[in-house]
Amino acid sequence: MRIPDITIAIDGFSSTGKSSFAKLVARKFGFQYLDSGALYRAVTLFAQERGLISADNAVDPGLRAALDSLEVGFGPDGRTFSGERCIEDEIRSMKVSSQVSPIAAVPYVREWVDACLHRMAAGGRVVMDGRDIGTAVFPDAEIKVFMTASPEVRARRRFDELAAKGGNPVYEEVLANIQQRDYIDSHREASPLRRADDAFGLDNSDMTMEEELAWITGLVQGKFGIL
Ligand code: DC
Repeated sequence: MRIPDITIAIDGFSSTGKSSFAKLVARKFGFQYLDSGALYRAVTLFAQERGLISADNAVDPGLRAALDSLEVGFGPDGRTFSGERCIEDEIRSMKVSSQVSPIAAVPYVREWVDACLHRMAAGGRVVMDGRDIGTAVFPDAEIKVFMTASPEVRARRRFDELAAKGGNPVYEEVLANIQQRDYIDSHREASPLRRADDAFGLDNSDMTMEEELAWITGLVQGKFGIL
């Protein structure tokens, strides 16, 4: 099945499986996958290494000009690079995770990330995941998906992930963290998380990845009249 040169935007709450789903769609459709969260994480690491964010999350206004020298890209295997340096592991660390929210709330950082995404997505055939792709970054994306799953299901998934990595998570804490992040993501001033009016909802609480793929394939076929 030949999929047209479209842009697919996948937004939703934390731990709904957006990136796993977006990667699967990219592989099956032969699309490029762009991880917008990785760009916010790369800016966070950059700010930390240059001392442009303090321990209490105050962002130095010097970050704005400093961003001119930051070049982030994705390798063929999807790993994140800053110039020639692979930063994939560092951007997933707790240190970066703990300061990415205040960085992502800065309007000029959001503009910088949006410009990056537009450069990378030129020509289409891309699938992107994030919080505001279908509402703010690519409001004209041909297919928009808004992913949800119950907080309990998401907490269970996150709990299993942390336990598999050898941690000793407490389910109630994981659940509380998910609920807190839902609140912050949907209540911040700059591009809060919300479902675009023309987004298709996907509640994957009780779905397998194969079912999710069949769902979006059907959606694309229906929209473009592909048999
Ligand atoms: O998806 P993630 O956990 O890698 O995202 C990291 C952070 O970046 C998260 O706190 C939300 C923020 N983010 C955002 O504000 N807008 C996006 N389009 C993607 C991520």
